[in-house]
Amino acid sequence: MNTDITKDILYCQALLNNNEVVAIPTETVYGLAACIDSDATVEQIFRLKSRPHYNPLIVHIHHIDQLNNLAVDIPENALQLAEVFWPGPLTLLLKKGPQVSDLITAGKPTIAVRMPNHPLTIELLKGLKAPIAAPSANPFTGISPTSAEHVYQYFKGKIKAVLDGGSCEVGLESTIVGFDGETAVIYRKGGISINRIESVVGEVSYIRKTKSTKIVAPGMLDKHYSPKTKLILTKSLEKELSKHLNKKVGVITLSPYFKSDIALCTALSATGNLDEAASQLYATLHFMDTQNLDIIIAETMPETDLGVTINDRLKRASYH
Ligand code: TXA
Ligand code: MG
Repeated sequence: MNTDITKDILYCQALLNNNEVVAIPTETVYGLAACIDSDATVEQIFRLKSRPHYNPLIVHIHHIDQLNNLAVDIPENALQLAEVFWPGPLTLLLKKGPQVSDLITAGKPTIAVRMPNHPLTIELLKGLKAPIAAPSANPFTGISPTSAEHVYQYFKGKIKAVLDGGSCEVGLESTIVGFDGETAVIYRKGGISINRIESVVGEVSYIRKTKSTKIVAPGMLDKHYSPKTKLILTKSLEKELSKHLNKKVGVITLSPYFKSDIALCTALSATGNLDEAASQLYATLHFMDTQNLDIIIAETMPETDLGVTINDRLKRASYH
């Protein structure tokens, strides 16, 4: 199969309306999309990603009214969050409506929904017969794609098209928020920081990690977002580096303060800006993975704003 990297929205609409899987850009990461009214196409997404069926998918919409066909008993605080952050990197976990396929929700009573903030994808969604289900367009546990080229490298020959919307502006997946009554519960840290969520709905709680968390919140899988190269996360770069003197080492820091003759050093932001760092994280991991390194050493980011999410991803990327 030939895989087109294209900016042709009408072509991608036709493919999706014809029950094909198409990769789409969002402000967070690229997604592997299928219209939710076709179980057979949604099933292909699981197959392409080697994704286990216990891991449910996020449904993407372009208009708030579409929620009515997907979810019931929506908490007031969920609507408040949607009002403030949609379109944007926020996914709401809501009580699922009866017509939503169990394949998408992995048999759970809840459905994950978000409105992405990407002009091409909003335009695309407006011409579709149904909303789309779209997980990140990477093989299970791999690094999420933030460019059309990343997706192409993963899925060339396996899907018909990648809608090319450039580099993802946010670069980290959406923040996933569920509800216990009206209390917001964080299921996955993401592109909207916790303080911004709390500024709208007050103090949040967190889904606890238990033995059965795999079923409750698969986004909390310990190993995730992983490069093929072994990654070490450290607070003390010099010390860690000194343990690997005879190896080919890649170093990731927030700002470009660190230089070394023996390691390949990359800073996520010239000015130490955490939003910029977030947008560069996955592209940097993809790049490092092509450099035939023995090891990647990443420095822990400050635990504020999106630094919290970056650390979460680096922790999972370093799990082995
Ligand atoms: O930013 C994003 O959210 C991107 C873009 C493409 O929209 N999508 C994304 O999808 O990150 P994915 O499939 O890679 O991650 C979705 C996460 C999974 O960890 C899944 O377990 C969780 O959402 N999820 C989906 N439905 C859920 C549900 N009903 N209950 C708990 N977790 C759910
Ligand atoms: Mg993912």
